[in-house]
Amino acid sequence: PTGRLVDALGRPLHDLRISVTDRCNFRCVYCMPKEVFDKDYAYLPHSELLSFEEITRVARIFIAHGVEKIRLTGGEPLLRKNLERLVGMLRALPTPSGRPLDLTLTTNGSLLARKAQALKEAGLDRVTVSLDALDEAMFRRMNDVDFSVADVLHGLDAAHAAGLGPIKVNMVVKGGTNDGQILPMARHFKGSPFILRFIEYMDVGASNGWNMDEVIPSAEVIRRIGAELPVAPTSANYAGETAARWRYLDGSGEVGVISSVTQAFCHDCSRLRLSTEGKLYTCLFATRGNDLRALLRTGRADEELSAAVAQLWRGRTDRYSETRTIDTSGLAPGAKRVEMSYIGG
Ligand code: GTP
Ligand code: 5AD
Ligand code: SF4
Ligand code: SF4
Repeated sequence: PTGRLVDALGRPLHDLRISVTDRCNFRCVYCMPKEVFDKDYAYLPHSELLSFEEITRVARIFIAHGVEKIRLTGGEPLLRKNLERLVGMLRALPTPSGRPLDLTLTTNGSLLARKAQALKEAGLDRVTVSLDALDEAMFRRMNDVDFSVADVLHGLDAAHAAGLGPIKVNMVVKGGTNDGQILPMARHFKGSPFILRFIEYMDVGASNGWNMDEVIPSAEVIRRIGAELPVAPTSANYAGETAARWRYLDGSGEVGVISSVTQAFCHDCSRLRLSTEGKLYTCLFATRGNDLRALLRTGRADEELSAAVAQLWRGRTDRYSETRTIDTSGLAPGAKRVEMSYIGG
């Protein structure tokens, strides 16, 4: 392909997020609540998942279209067997610019201590780890499967030791639940090698019973931190960055806030999502995807796939977070937003 691929609102395609499994060993209350994701929940059977070969073929096509960053997500991506093999296959893909691909992974950290070294050796650049509390009881309440904070902190240390940095730590703030952990988390990670980011609780999916009253606006998060640990805003690392960055005035690093509810960032959203079963989603809040697997499994040539994805991106008009109303149930009858555990954070 020639020229840069831009969508109907002028946004370039830069970032591909690939979900490698819809399963997870956590049951975070805001993502996979136990009542919905119980033992009878219908996860995708293995034959429905894209194989590593299929994922790599798709990635090659997207890289040719200008994708410079690939993030592996889930569910919990480290539950996918031999994930390091996929990392190696993606690492080997050539880029048109000759600049290395930014290859990263979002994980809950539970299996990281075991896998960090192999992932690094396979060519992974960095990881982002979710952690919603430092307090043991609160963390167990958030993940709802009795996972301990110490395991995740272990995973973080292993990732750091393996050189998988810069490492970010994401905390979803659910008002009335874990917002008391904002300051303990800030204190803990201030001056550490890890960059802490606070995420506003979002109305993603259809299971978490989202309510605006449980959203703590990022401005409030920053106010609470700043009252004890003075901070000042600092500029974005790159156009389209999800987080707004704040640096500690004493020079001991930074925190970030991801304000997809109170300060939407759709205007420069350059992210495309590939689901576990090979559907493309042009927005996190989409109700339907575009079936790429059907093309992959009916013997189409790369040129045809390439043209199909280009057409999809060129026609993209999504800006859900900028147009959301307080009543987020206002979807077409029968339409259901896809779950985050399926589409990938
Ligand atoms: P960096 O490359 O490290 O800057 O990562 P990133 O911010 O692109 O990705 P990350 O997976 O760390 O994203 C953090 C969180 O931001 C996600 O888990 C989501 O909760 C949220 N997020 C990411 N992308 C989008 C998006 O396109 N729309 C919305 N509404 N939220 C998003
Ligand atoms: N709101 C905000 N963030 C969410 N995540 C999952 N569900 C939600 C939600 N409803 C986050 C996870 C993780 C990333 C994959 O997405 O905590 O950091
Ligand atoms: Fe699993 Fe991440 Fe969802 Fe928690 S937020 S249930 S760790 S996929
Ligand atoms: Fe992008 Fe959709 Fe998120 Fe807006 S709501 S930033 S368009 S993924």
